[in-house]
Amino acid sequence: MNFKNITVYQIYPKSFYDGNGDGVGDLQGITRKLDYIHNLGADFIWITPFFRSPQRDNGYDISNYREIEPMYGTMADFDAMMEKANSLGIGVMLDMVFNHTSTEHEWFQKALQGDKEYMDYYIFRDGSPDEPPTNWQSKFGGNAWEYVPHLKKWYLHLYDKTQADLNWENPKVRSELKDVLRFWKQKGVKGFRFDVINVISKPEYFENDTIGDGRRFYTDGPKVHEYLKELHRDAGLDEVVTVGEMSSTSLENCVRYTNPEEKELSMSFSFHHLKVDYRDGDKWKLQPVDYRKLKDLLETWQLGMEENGGWNALFWCNHDQPRTVSRFGDTGVYWKQSAKMLATLMYLMRGTPYIYQGEEIGMKNAGFNSIQQYRDVESLNYYKILTQSGLSDKEALHVISERSRDNGRTPMQWTDGDYAGFSHHEPWIGLSEDSKGICAENQINDEDSIFAYFKSLVKLRKENPVIADGSIEFMYSEREDIFCYRRSLEGREMIVLCNLTADTVSGDFASHLAGMSRLMGNYPDSSVHSGGELRPYEAVVYQN
Ligand code: NOJ
Repeated sequence: MNFKNITVYQIYPKSFYDGNGDGVGDLQGITRKLDYIHNLGADFIWITPFFRSPQRDNGYDISNYREIEPMYGTMADFDAMMEKANSLGIGVMLDMVFNHTSTEHEWFQKALQGDKEYMDYYIFRDGSPDEPPTNWQSKFGGNAWEYVPHLKKWYLHLYDKTQADLNWENPKVRSELKDVLRFWKQKGVKGFRFDVINVISKPEYFENDTIGDGRRFYTDGPKVHEYLKELHRDAGLDEVVTVGEMSSTSLENCVRYTNPEEKELSMSFSFHHLKVDYRDGDKWKLQPVDYRKLKDLLETWQLGMEENGGWNALFWCNHDQPRTVSRFGDTGVYWKQSAKMLATLMYLMRGTPYIYQGEEIGMKNAGFNSIQQYRDVESLNYYKILTQSGLSDKEALHVISERSRDNGRTPMQWTDGDYAGFSHHEPWIGLSEDSKGICAENQINDEDSIFAYFKSLVKLRKENPVIADGSIEFMYSEREDIFCYRRSLEGREMIVLCNLTADTVSGDFASHLAGMSRLMGNYPDSSVHSGGELRPYEAVVYQN
């Protein structure tokens, strides 16, 4: 299936649209908003998990892969959503969380009863109650092992302790997971996003990590490529679009995951460019965005993937990340310009764009100022860890407000009315504190809106094969204030030129743009072609 010229729109169902008035988004809500997504021009929706789950990690803790969590609706609601999506030509991509299950999953429950067959579905190890098998850390904080007293064993959980890691070494586990894929394919699903798929293969022997938190033993683990090839072959993944979420991965591995000859996945999400504001690589230590590093990383990944036949997913944000404008752009006077500039920069590169709900209207961070407003398990854990490590309440809250995943999880802003038109009922999580005036309703018919701009970008990608299929070359690499690249395909050339700053910048732009004409930009006109300057956060696209 061609995945190079599509645009994917990501939906976090809990916060997208509430169809039944209980304050929680649901499948009926998605169905009612598919016309909006169609209007934007997206070809696919990726819906994060709505399967049966105790919701400890908002659905990434699945207790039944074939059932719908009642809070999101029923299988009939799912079928109705599929029917509407099909009628609009929108493909549906589901989120497969195969590294772990909820501890409420039947398999884990049987394992807890001491059933040997099911214990082998997970990673149990002997050990004394006061010493976990290794010092590995959970990604949500604390040790990655949990003790089960009546079994006298520990089990591994790289995420929350209610998310037990599956044992991929066991062929039965792999076979069960392939069946899950077949089940959803039969229901007409056209794509899968695989959650943290590069951590599924654990080492043969578990040992303490003397230099880190254990990730070097299982990231892009020993048999991950073998397992993905098997999944691809046995579940017929060539018939669908697939994207793997890769945690702390390497370029070399992403080439292997996504080069079509390897028959593993269509594309990969990698996150290095979203760590450029982490001090010492630590998410919970703030530092201003290092634009130099951001540029280097994007360039390295673009060139490296092209050279070796790999394919990137292009994205600035998702349900785990702060909002794009708040992080890389401007939330004040240049809010609109910066939102459009960032979209231009990212989505005309080589790869498949993933637009996250609300990004297309320039939604901002949550702006919460009390820990009671947060819902995310990771934020709540880290708030404790940070205050225990000596930060004052105010300092810890500041860090959380910058880094919390809840920044991306506040309700989608549909209107300027109550609860931003998300629901008639008080939502499960508060609205962004800076939501007034920023809503879909105000933007859909405004030609100058962020929404309208995203729509033009999506259309441009579809109409210009140079974007989907062309090669990429970077210009002004040495300049920290400008991001610029040329796309080329059979004599067709496109130049994308972006000002990353709130200042006016100048350069010898005209010489590169000679003989080209302006296709689009985030200011009504531009003077760069006549040797002029780039205004604050200006983005322009030229083509020969
Ligand atoms: C990545 C998902 O995007 C995130 O939301 C989740 O918490 C972890 N994987 C664990 O499943």
